[in-house]
Amino acid sequence: MSKMEILVAGNPVLKKVAKPVAKIDKRIKNIIKNMTDTLYGESNGIGLAAPQIGISERLVVIDLGDEDGLRIMINPVIVSKEGSVQMCEGCLSVPDFEGDVERFATVECQYITPEGKKEIVNAEGLLAVCIQHELDHLDGILFIDRATSIMPKAKEVE
Ligand code: NI
Repeated sequence: MSKMEILVAGNPVLKKVAKPVAKIDKRIKNIIKNMTDTLYGESNGIGLAAPQIGISERLVVIDLGDEDGLRIMINPVIVSKEGSVQMCEGCLSVPDFEGDVERFATVECQYITPEGKKEIVNAEGLLAVCIQHELDHLDGILFIDRATSIMPKAKEVE
């Protein structure tokens, strides 16, 4: 178990452009493991980018809780995009707020798997939005930088 602390907005690492992964070695696999443990340690997380645990490298993990399971993306790049969609987004690094963000409705994303294989996903709906949100983290952008409206998250009633 290696759940890491999630950095919150205001931390300079979240504003940095992350560097590409040069080699998938033991260190990178360990970072991926820590990212996965951290994502699954949060009840409401569907994606996490390495800068959120203080590592400025181009790594993303996504699990929407559907049949696709865990998706590990190394050096992901959006190679085509189309349409537009607006969704209310949240972020583990912005725990107290949510907001409406306009994104591309569909994206084609190319990335490398931990096995070193090149993969392409054609995403729409929540996956497309999640990919764009997580890739933004790799470029130092948070959803609050793009949101057309931001509101405090509704507190859960006990
Ligand atoms: Ni986020």
